[in-house]
Amino acid sequence: MTTSSIAHDPALEALWMPFTANKAFKARPRLLVGAKDMHYRSDDGRQILDGTAGLWCVNAGHCREPITSAIAKAASTLDFAPGFQMGHPGSFQLATKLKGILPTGIDHVFFSNSGSEAVDSALKIALAYHIARGQPQRTRFVGRLRGYHGVGFGGISVGGIEPNKKPFAAQLLPQVDHLPHTHDLSKNAFAKGQPAWGAHLADALEQIVAERGADTIAAVIVEPMAGSTGVLIPPVGYLERLRALCDAHGILLIFDEVITGFGRLGTPFAAQFFNVTPDMITIAKGVTNAAVPMGATCVKGSIYDTVINATEQGIEFFHGYTYSGHPLAAAAGLATLDLYAAEGIFARAAAMAPVWEAAMHSLRDAPHVIDVRNLGLVAGIELEPRAGKPAARAYDAFVDCFFNQDVLVRTTGDIIALSPPLIISAAQVEELVARVRRALEAIK
Ligand SMILES: Cc1ncc(COP(=O)(O)O)c(C=O)c1O
Repeated sequence: MTTSSIAHDPALEALWMPFTANKAFKARPRLLVGAKDMHYRSDDGRQILDGTAGLWCVNAGHCREPITSAIAKAASTLDFAPGFQMGHPGSFQLATKLKGILPTGIDHVFFSNSGSEAVDSALKIALAYHIARGQPQRTRFVGRLRGYHGVGFGGISVGGIEPNKKPFAAQLLPQVDHLPHTHDLSKNAFAKGQPAWGAHLADALEQIVAERGADTIAAVIVEPMAGSTGVLIPPVGYLERLRALCDAHGILLIFDEVITGFGRLGTPFAAQFFNVTPDMITIAKGVTNAAVPMGATCVKGSIYDTVINATEQGIEFFHGYTYSGHPLAAAAGLATLDLYAAEGIFARAAAMAPVWEAAMHSLRDAPHVIDVRNLGLVAGIELEPRAGKPAARAYDAFVDCFFNQDVLVRTTGDIIALSPPLIISAAQVEELVARVRRALEAIK
């Protein structure tokens, strides 16, 4: 008998859960068995208000009929089509539809199945691009501390989260540097929207360039707004500076928009919100409203053309996934983009953002709160950590929210991150805040 099988239901034993405290979960499971619009249903029949859009992904709300019926139809019409040397209409249609909402100039789409794969594809495309344009020595990547780019070896290497890297440190990508993160509560606590302080932190790229040589660097990758490490909002002018420095040194700029894509900030992508256009955008999650796994790496036409035209005959880029552009994902993506447009979901998020901001900042005087920050329909509520027990207080808040307040929140470290479906109403925003406050009052 393993120690982990002592206390729990044996039916839960076989599954090794991802990014989960397995023992704690199995001792007191949190099971979801249904979902509709703004709510999950728990296995004990409670309606749980979804404060996180699942995992930042169910932007149009749960089990939306146009999406579920498109998936069902695809499943019984064309269950699978090979994507290597073959194609099917849906993936071409979805790429074209995505081009219609991507920033101008980002007009080619390489499909994968997750954010992690989209990131690894972007890193490979960056290397392939520089080889194709005659600069094969550009092999280095620059990420940012507290960045999250999924869990592939590429993603954890450019990412900046220590626990995600430490056990694998012996085999990370060898040529990676990191910019500092932009989070500093001594300067920016309780900022509403983009904080004023910190644009200069982008200049750290100059130091890396000076040390490594500009012509060794292939790409810089950042989340325009970092979500997974606790909602780190870019200071005013920061992304603009990063763009200018990349341009000055011939370095590609990749925005990882796996969570900011599809309306989270009230525009299709964060690139449009900040008015900064990168060279590549990685997406996943909201592209299908999370109903079928899908990721994609979206690139400027000049990148596609350079790579494709460098090879006279045969396969131009030796990379792809069995399920790239899977028919069910493509059908879900097409129906999702139609639904976003039909219901004006991105504009709706933009209109709700001021209501959201006011509601979130009302938590300023709730117990344990040392910061509230927000942008679009995202908020980070940072708690004072318990002495010697980092993350314990926020975890307790999460558990209390689920079991006692009927609301799903997400925590990372001692930060509660909120990112509801973009269909949330003003009344539900108030309800969400009231429930989080009750949880903060309940915990020690
Ligand atoms: C910015 C960012 N990049 C990449 C990923 C990884 O996506 P996935 O879990 O689909 O591999 C995530 C997931 O949350 C993310 O937030």
